[in-house]
Formats: sequence, C-alpha cells, structure tokens
Amino acid sequence: MIAYFSSEEALKKLKLFFSLEFDLIRHTIGYCPRIPRYLDKCQFVRHVYEDLKRSRMLRERIQDFGLAQPEKQLNEAWTNLVRHLMSAADVDLFIAAFYRVVKVEQVAAYRSYIQNALRLNDAPSVEVFEDHLPAMERQLAWGKQFVEAGSISADKEREVIKFEIEIREHIARLGNLYGGSSQENVNIETEYPDYAVPAEMELEPRFIWRSAERIYDSVNQSEEHPTHHSYTHFTELPIIDLVANIVYDGKHMPFEYLADFIRQAWDEARHSQMGFSRLRSMGVDPYQVPIPVGHYKAYTSVPLLERIAALTQVGEACSFVPKKQWTKMAIEHNDLLTALEHDYDIVDEKNHVKFGVKWINELIKKNNETRNFKQIVQDAEWKVRTGVNELKKEKGEKWQADLGPRFEGCHVSNSPLNLAPNIIIA
Ligand SMILES: [Fe+2]
Ligand SMILES: [Fe+2]
Repeated sequence: MIAYFSSEEALKKLKLFFSLEFDLIRHTIGYCPRIPRYLDKCQFVRHVYEDLKRSRMLRERIQDFGLAQPEKQLNEAWTNLVRHLMSAADVDLFIAAFYRVVKVEQVAAYRSYIQNALRLNDAPSVEVFEDHLPAMERQLAWGKQFVEAGSISADKEREVIKFEIEIREHIARLGNLYGGSSQENVNIETEYPDYAVPAEMELEPRFIWRSAERIYDSVNQSEEHPTHHSYTHFTELPIIDLVANIVYDGKHMPFEYLADFIRQAWDEARHSQMGFSRLRSMGVDPYQVPIPVGHYKAYTSVPLLERIAALTQVGEACSFVPKKQWTKMAIEHNDLLTALEHDYDIVDEKNHVKFGVKWINELIKKNNETRNFKQIVQDAEWKVRTGVNELKKEKGEKWQADLGPRFEGCHVSNSPLNLAPNIIIA
C-alpha cells in the first residue's frame, strides 16, 4: 500500500538520509589505509567519491526547504552506528557490514521513498535517488562479490556474519532508515569510540618491497627515462591513503572541505592507476617496485595543517615544471599515452594546490595560528623531510646526514618532497 507523506515528513526523512550519508563519507574513508589490496583500495575510493556526489545532491535538495547546512543537525544515534561500523576488526568485516548491511539499508530506504513519494510534487527528491541508484547497485554487487568470491576463509566468514548481525540489529534498534526514528526516542546504549587512522598503511603481500623513499634505479638503471616518471605517479599510492587520512582527521571541517579532499583522494587513485598501467606498458611489474610507504608515515605524523601544507604547497605546487618536461620526454619517446598521463595529471594537481591554499587559510583561523602561511609551509616541509630521512636511515636506504637549507619556495629550493622530484640514479 502506498503511504503518501507531507513535505514536512519528506524533510524529516531527507534529513535522516543525509545525516547517515554525511557521517558515512566523513568516516568510512578513514578505513582506506587499512585496505591492503591495491585494486580494492582504488575501487573503494571511487565509491566514496560517488557517495559524496549523492550526498551533495541530497544536501542541495534539503536546501530547497530552507535548511542551508543540514550537516549541523546530524542525528547522533546514527553517527554512533557509523562509529560502530568503523570498529570492524579488519577490512573483511568492514566491507561486508558496509556493503551488505548499511548500503543495502540505504538502497531499501531510497526505494521505499520513491515508491511512496508523490512523483510530481516531490520530483526533485525522487530524482536524487533515481539518478544515483544504478551506481549504488553496482557498489552493492562489488561488495557482495568481495565477500563471496574473495579470499575469506570459512572461519573469517563466521566472524563476518557475526559482525553483520550486530550492525543489522543496531539499525533495527534505531527503527530502520526509512522509518526515520527521531533522535529523541532512541537510547544510545553503547557509545562507540572514535576510530583512529593507522600509523602505517596496510599493503597486500604481493607488494614485496616497502621502502621509505622512491628508489629509481630499481625501476630502470639508465639515465632519466619515462619509466621513472610513471613509477613516480604509480607510487602516489601512499598519497591516496594520506589524503584519505586528511579527510578523516578533518571530519569536523565544513562540507566543502570533505568534498575537496574526497575528490582529491579519488584523483590520486586515478594518478596512481595511470602510472600502474603505463609501467606495465613499459614492461615493469608494479608489484615488484619499491613502494615508498615512508611517505604515508612521515606525513601522517605531523599535524593536519602541516600535512596539507607540505603535500599541496610543496609536493604538488612544485611539480608542474618537471611534469611539463616529463610530458616532452614521453613525446620524444613516441609514447603518447605516457605523455597524456602527465598532461591530465597537471589539470588535477592545480586544483589540489588551490584546495590546499583555501583550507590552510581556514585552519590558520580555526587554530589561531601565530605563524604566517609561508612559515607554516616551511616548517611542514622541514618536518616531513626530516621524517622521511629518519625512515630512510631505519630502513638502510641512502639518507642524508645534513638535510641542507630550509624550503624557500618552488623557484628557489629543490625539495625532495616535490611529487616530481629530481630523478637520482645511484
Ligand atoms: Fe597526484
Ligand atoms: Fe595531487
């Protein structure tokens, strides 16, 4: 039986749907560094980006009702459910509960909404869901296959099912998503603690070489060559996790902060995959090359503001001039696809530098910083550079006893943090 509802009831439902969507995008990306398999990691980030686009449309629809910032009226009981999901012991439990329980609940709620809404009167809401349901169905299929046709042992499957039941029962206690229980009549019996992002990223065993820094001569012994450039792109792999971490640790920042850095995380996954494919085209196995996991560790051990400053204002901002030379070299090798790898990368990276400027300035205000922009970038570069150098020493890689002068700007300094650094063949 169809149960028509008023605009007031529609808003109530949309607010709850948004509350869960918003909590999911700002929390679940934090699980990215715990996804060991490269292809799964990239796919997962793509999904979070799709989820962001859906959240943005839903938010715009809620704004039609005169509510400008629905993220300021989150439902705490459902936030607690998301923290419960984030308590998953490992990636197998997390993906199963997220895709086979939580996302299934969302799809069911959106279908019920479409079924019962007045199609003409409430068309803008119906369209939000109808435009995004096909992508959501593909996500459900991916998650289902991850569990059923992946590499989960029988014992692990029992743990998975136990955790799924826990999450399903928790949702039922909240009165289900379409039912839209209001916060007032839900008792939060267990407060789940905040998830903490791991200090080290996880990687599948197939990656045999985890280094502190990129090691160019392991890829190609010759003087600078296009393989080195594609290797540099592919090894933005730790940057995917680093940006995921920037989203999660900035989860109390405005909606646009999350939107910018979720987009950036997906861009980095694309850059890494472009490098992956070009390396293979040149006969280099991406699973055999050194993965500079030290980058993730060194960046994540500095505060959020400095993490963003070092990445966007040094790593990315200084990379444009060398990348233009890389494009030229690829053309000289008659390798159009590799040239276009760098060409399109620059389009994205320019945006990342802008995101950085915008949010560094916001964080300066928020943190009551006494240092100015330039000093923050200089300190950030120094701390991350020192961190990577220490890790190089620990891992027996070539390190520097004297780190040289501090960073003074892309045109003056040659920072090793540059995402298009000087290629040094030992
Ligand atoms: Fe990138
Ligand atoms: Fe970037």
